[in-house]
Amino acid sequence: MKFGYFDDKSREYVINTPKTPYPWINYLGSDDMFGLVSNTAGGYCFYKDARLRRITRYRYNNIPLDNGGRYFYIKDGNEYYSPSWMPVKKDLDSYECRHGLGYTKIKGVKNNLQTEITYTIPLGDNVEIHRVSLKNTGSSAKEVSLFSFIEFCLYNAYDDMTNYQRTYSIGAVEVDGSVIYHKTDYRERRNHFAFYSVNTPIDGFDTDRDTFLGQFGGLHEPEVVAEGKSRNSVATGWNPIASHGLNVKLAPNEEKVFVFVLGYVENKEEEKWVSKGVINKSKAVALIEKYKDNNAVEKALADLAKHWDNLLSKYSVESDDEKLNRMVNIWNPYQCMTTFNMSRSASFFETGIGRGMGFRDSNQDLLGFVHQIPHKAKQRILDIAATQFEDGSAYHQYQPLTKKGNNEIGSGFNDDPLWLILATTAYIKETGDISILDEQVPYDCNPNNTGTLLEHLEKSFTYTLNNLGPHGLPLIGRADWNDCLNLNCFSTNPDESFQTCQNKQGRTAESVFIGGMFVYIGKEYAQLFDKLGNKEKSQSIMNEVQKMKDCVETHGYDKDWFLRAYDFYGNKVGSDENEEGKIFIEPQGFCVMAGIGVESGKALRAMESVDKYLNTKYGCVLQNPAYSEYHVNLGEISSYPPGYKENAGIFCHNNPWIMIAETVLGRGEKAFEYYSKIAPAYIEDISEIHKMEPYVYAQMIAGKDAVKPGEAKNSWLTGTAAWNYEAITKWILGVRPDYDGIVVDPCVPKDWDNIKIKRVFRETVYNITIKNPNKINKGVKKVIIDGVEKEGNFIPHIQDKGTHNVEVIMG
Ligand code: BGC
Ligand code: NOJ
Repeated sequence: MKFGYFDDKSREYVINTPKTPYPWINYLGSDDMFGLVSNTAGGYCFYKDARLRRITRYRYNNIPLDNGGRYFYIKDGNEYYSPSWMPVKKDLDSYECRHGLGYTKIKGVKNNLQTEITYTIPLGDNVEIHRVSLKNTGSSAKEVSLFSFIEFCLYNAYDDMTNYQRTYSIGAVEVDGSVIYHKTDYRERRNHFAFYSVNTPIDGFDTDRDTFLGQFGGLHEPEVVAEGKSRNSVATGWNPIASHGLNVKLAPNEEKVFVFVLGYVENKEEEKWVSKGVINKSKAVALIEKYKDNNAVEKALADLAKHWDNLLSKYSVESDDEKLNRMVNIWNPYQCMTTFNMSRSASFFETGIGRGMGFRDSNQDLLGFVHQIPHKAKQRILDIAATQFEDGSAYHQYQPLTKKGNNEIGSGFNDDPLWLILATTAYIKETGDISILDEQVPYDCNPNNTGTLLEHLEKSFTYTLNNLGPHGLPLIGRADWNDCLNLNCFSTNPDESFQTCQNKQGRTAESVFIGGMFVYIGKEYAQLFDKLGNKEKSQSIMNEVQKMKDCVETHGYDKDWFLRAYDFYGNKVGSDENEEGKIFIEPQGFCVMAGIGVESGKALRAMESVDKYLNTKYGCVLQNPAYSEYHVNLGEISSYPPGYKENAGIFCHNNPWIMIAETVLGRGEKAFEYYSKIAPAYIEDISEIHKMEPYVYAQMIAGKDAVKPGEAKNSWLTGTAAWNYEAITKWILGVRPDYDGIVVDPCVPKDWDNIKIKRVFRETVYNITIKNPNKINKGVKKVIIDGVEKEGNFIPHIQDKGTHNVEVIMG
């Protein structure tokens, strides 16, 4: 069952009922100001950091779930409603929500009044625009009242929901004409404030929540709206809000457009005040002036569309499969941008206060986005590297505003350092900019203790080598990619974290997965030194890689698949010898991607085992059989009910590793089968089962052992976005950047032919056509570049910023 449809031409997903199985959301913002908005106008916005600079309030796990946002109410005669359906929930005559790239439009029609609200954040300005158009579609004149509503967060979202001792007493606002200023803590310690304005004189306002709602009223029944009249309340303490009241008269067919601007402004210390107690509003006034009418909004939307044209033009595909086209050309890169911006901080599942930027997460997110905005990727790499310690280990997470490592979680996730190498080589392959390696980057954010980025990479690489266990495999530390496989934790106390309570010394439990990573990423690292002309170093890296490869084949393989780990006692994890959790997905993917066991046949057997034991209707589960009881020596993984999350859920993040592994073995049908099982556009028809947005990946889909198999959770912020983008664009379609050009190495189902790919690489445009005359899965005989034939599958980069036609002949 579907709840909408894709409008590919407009690059929108169109939702035609407010009653989706879960709030289906979108993201606004490209630079510093960001917003989340659901299909019924729920959500919030923040500046840079969802924890430290939250602008509007949002209550997670609310009842109903998604209650709170930028709401509009209409009082029409004796009736009132919301054109976004929520929060009033009065039936509308018609409803539509269009989630587009960086904007959302919600249209509600009732009693001959059509209201359309456009939410967006323009490029370059810290404002959220809410454009409201009201149109009288009937034949008689109409007079209605329109009320806006937002609730301010007192900036620090954590404090805001825990420290009522303080927060109930500090709320401060100022009203000036049609502008409501939120200036809590500005007098004392903050150099920033927020404002909410509308481009027309108002008939009233409210800034005190209880006055607006009434002491017993909810957002679905504000007293002010029911009465049809603002109360001009001025909040002191308690809960500041901003609501404008407008009386609107509309002749038949008349349309009026109002532009509401929700903005954020910072002032220098010496410019904070114009006189005692009167805040300096000049920056706010300038922004309000800039967005004073609909033309400015139209321009902002057009600029945003152009911005996206440019970003999406870097890689696009034209094939017979419209689902493939819409994933590759629109929605997957869009989600990649979102994960790049948000890491795992703010979604409808991530509260914005728990986790900031993840070290491993952000490095992986970068893979899916680097070709679109290389200069942002560069800065991100340097920011991440600055949270590395001198011994090569790294803070697992950091705060986006301060860019400082998060001490609560600390370090000790032994996969973390290696991801930095992968992100950096991806950046250099895309841009050719090897100068990034010479940048001086702090250790532990200490500007007085720095090393070049290349030195950081070396520390990442040797960190693994300095931390090998009894079999010569990498020690797992607190956890590797699988946060919930905690082999040194042995937690029996429900009040402690599975990851940080590490109570075994941690020098025995080993990870085969990190072994696979080391080989895959080690080869990248060696290739980097080839590029730098340092053959000796490259060779010495390859010696270590070879040793690890042998070690994984010898100690990291069971009968028919790669082992997952050795636990604290030296027992196998992910082995046929285990009763539960016999086979895990992650090492099958990464070890085969790394080429381990390809010659010996172990890789193929591993992939066949994946198909046999992990592959299901909805994707590949993480391991099998699910743990049915808590194993203290395995940690959090076995604390989940069977079929959920890391306990045999379908963790979409690692399915693309299997796809890529299949391409290594040349099995194009299999690779694409795995792709189409989890790519959202392909499962749109089962939205009632899947529950999450059909235009983006979710982190997890409940596995075969679950109570509700196929039901997803945790949409949007997941490494799934970047890795599926990698799998489809670089390994299945096979177009991937290299230091000196583009490799074209498709691995596709046999009946694929005549696929057109446009790739903009270092400003040169390559129009690539893949021809498959002999109907094979993999292998390229020759490339024809502007009519000139060349053996092999490599397109040397042409540095003329021109346009070139390339035919790729498989064979
Ligand atoms: C764990 C968290 C962890 C998260 C991400 C959760 O299941 O409880 O500690 O950060 O997974 O993997
Ligand atoms: C989500 C985390 O953000 C990611 O870092 C981790 O690899 C996966 N969960 C698997 O546990």
